[in-house]
Amino acid sequence: MQAIVLAGGSGTRLRPLTCHTPKAIVPIFDRPLLHYQIDLLRQLPEIDEVILSLNYRPDAIERAVGDGGGTGPRIRYAVEPEPLGTGGAVRFCAPYLDGTVVVFNGDVLTAIDLRAVVDRHRSRGARATIVLAPVDDPAAYGLVETDAAGNVRAFREKPPPDAITCNTINAGIYVLEPDTFDRIPAGTRYSIERRYFPSLVERGEAFVAYVERGYWIDIGTTEKYVQAHRDIMRGRCAAHPFAGRAGEPFVDPTAAVDPGARIDAPCFVGAGARVCGGAAVLADSVVAARAAVGRDAVVDGAILWPDSRVDSAAVVRDAVIGRRARVEAHAVVGPGTVLGDDSVVTAFSQV
Ligand code: GDD
Ligand code: MG
Repeated sequence: MQAIVLAGGSGTRLRPLTCHTPKAIVPIFDRPLLHYQIDLLRQLPEIDEVILSLNYRPDAIERAVGDGGGTGPRIRYAVEPEPLGTGGAVRFCAPYLDGTVVVFNGDVLTAIDLRAVVDRHRSRGARATIVLAPVDDPAAYGLVETDAAGNVRAFREKPPPDAITCNTINAGIYVLEPDTFDRIPAGTRYSIERRYFPSLVERGEAFVAYVERGYWIDIGTTEKYVQAHRDIMRGRCAAHPFAGRAGEPFVDPTAAVDPGARIDAPCFVGAGARVCGGAAVLADSVVAARAAVGRDAVVDGAILWPDSRVDSAAVVRDAVIGRRARVEAHAVVGPGTVLGDDSVVTAFSQV
């Protein structure tokens, strides 16, 4: 069995973090986001190949993911010559498919039981099965109406406010039968949400819903990116590296934490990171690989990307600091700030 992960998006809503890093490989603690999807797909040992459907910066993604570590499913790269949209991207992979396929949006983080989804698909003899998540504000997603038997009755992508009739949305996880892809024209832009799913409903094909009530998030904005880290650290989503140790500080054995530094729970201090004496890494903070927190500096609910620096007595609160970015001594970086890679906040500045 194969899986396709749709990872061609550029991540405009995550700028500036995605100016140099495609959304699919933004770091979550010490690994690229795509690894979390590959972890989930490993639940199904029959998945022996994961096709990464790419478009924007495929070279960077190939460098970050490689062969996936060698122990899991084989990784195949399908690079579109131009963005084909979600449906066109799936159609582009069709020549490689040999049967029922699991399709994932590359930006969702969830702890779903994939076995149960595939079993539902098979037992119902579905042409397509879609995972739904209940959310408070469905307008930003694909709205999916179902009947009492769990069949999809309507699919409306990003509906206007007056067309919101339920709270179940498309969670971006599907099980599909490739012989339904004949309706998708090859080589042209085509939306799986706006065209393929509505066509299943119109033709009365067996289109089944699976409602996931566990953890689910789309890491499409900086707020959600930060939220996902907090949820993993606090155990709302059981995932690497906090599964089984949620709520604790995670300090990599190769990190250097000086005596007299304060490390609160939960937080993450990655490989080769440095936290100097008098500094405080407070709850919900991430100090990624090789990042440095200087003397008496405070990192509070902030995410520091690899190789960034917060110099002495600087304060970074509820912000995200890009790769190699530097917050100089005594500067204050406040809530909601996002610094792109290589930014510099000069000494005593307030952002
Ligand atoms: N290969 C490829 N080519 N991938 C693409 C393309 C493309 O042209 N366009 C988007 N993708 C990938 C993105 O990288 C992302 O992983 C996924 O497809 C979904 O695209 P987003 O841009 O993140 O869409 P969205 O979040 O606004 O909406 C989608 O996800 C929601 C759930 O998170 C839709 O599927 C909604 O219906 C759904 O509710
Ligand atoms: Mg998305």
